[in-house]
Amino acid sequence: AAREAELVEQATALLRAKDATLVAHYYVDESLQALAEATGGCVSDSLDMARFGQTAEASTLVVAGVSFMGETAKILSPEKRVWMPQLAATCSLDIGCEAGAYRAWRRQYPDHVAVVYANTSAAVKAEADWVVTSSIAVEVVEHLHAQGKSILWAPDKHLGGYVQKQTGADMLLWDGACIVHEEFRTRGLDDIKRIYPQAAILVHPESPDEMVAMADAVGSTKQLIEAARRLPHSHLIVATDKGIFYKMRQAVPDKVLLEAPTRGVGGDCVSCAHCPWMAMNSLERLVNCLHSDGVGHSIEVDEATRIGALRSLTRMVEFQR
Ligand code: 13P
Ligand code: SF4
Repeated sequence: AAREAELVEQATALLRAKDATLVAHYYVDESLQALAEATGGCVSDSLDMARFGQTAEASTLVVAGVSFMGETAKILSPEKRVWMPQLAATCSLDIGCEAGAYRAWRRQYPDHVAVVYANTSAAVKAEADWVVTSSIAVEVVEHLHAQGKSILWAPDKHLGGYVQKQTGADMLLWDGACIVHEEFRTRGLDDIKRIYPQAAILVHPESPDEMVAMADAVGSTKQLIEAARRLPHSHLIVATDKGIFYKMRQAVPDKVLLEAPTRGVGGDCVSCAHCPWMAMNSLERLVNCLHSDGVGHSIEVDEATRIGALRSLTRMVEFQR
């Protein structure tokens, strides 16, 4: 605890000295979420992180999250310096959708509107017409479907399947998944429901459809926290990364929060409700990053890619629900 207090003090002073703002995702260590709040930064879902970065006054954004979030910040605010505590922090959806393969696929369907999830590289975003996050995916596809468009969706097949069901749109899906959410299973969920019949189930739509089918609320991380507040239930079973419990507990201090079961319960689970890449962010690495002045921590996106990705990303940040 003494070491943590020391690191918090150092990071706070360095953020001020470097004119930097900390932008954190709900899945990172709670010490980083708390620091972002205490220093006037932001803690949110991926859409609001992107919007916050655009309007922040500081000349440097330090993004505590994964690389697509840092790239998004840089694409939207090229004049700012964008640093990350750990550049190697990526995402299984981004890894599973390599730009060359995506480009070849996209070319096969020139008449479709290409919608990609924010969890992709800048190079993939540059090939797409629209970028969405889980908080606006249904609304954006509804909007395109109403214009009679067919959709080419990548990379998350679970989110894509959910959006297809909600909108009835004609959609072709890339075969990608999140290694964290893919592990959630309904086996065991029934048992928990039997013990706590008053519990509501909150599910991130990157989870398998059998989980979504049992949910009382489905949405982005921010929307799940809102649902926790809104729903009358005293108990909440949460199917997303455990990092979310820090802010959810603050939002509903009187409710009982329970982790949804994963395939690994009683067995082997590689990433049981905790993203290994989000976990690469730590106070220590943040302090190193600030000390380094960005050397080894800077996000750079080449200008041609940036301009391409800016088109599809601007549609995302400007889309009104
Ligand atoms: P949100 O947009 O819901 O914050 O999701 C980002 C993410 O990576 C979920 O796994
Ligand atoms: Fe990617 Fe899943 Fe990690 Fe989110 S939780 S960053 S989707 S691997």
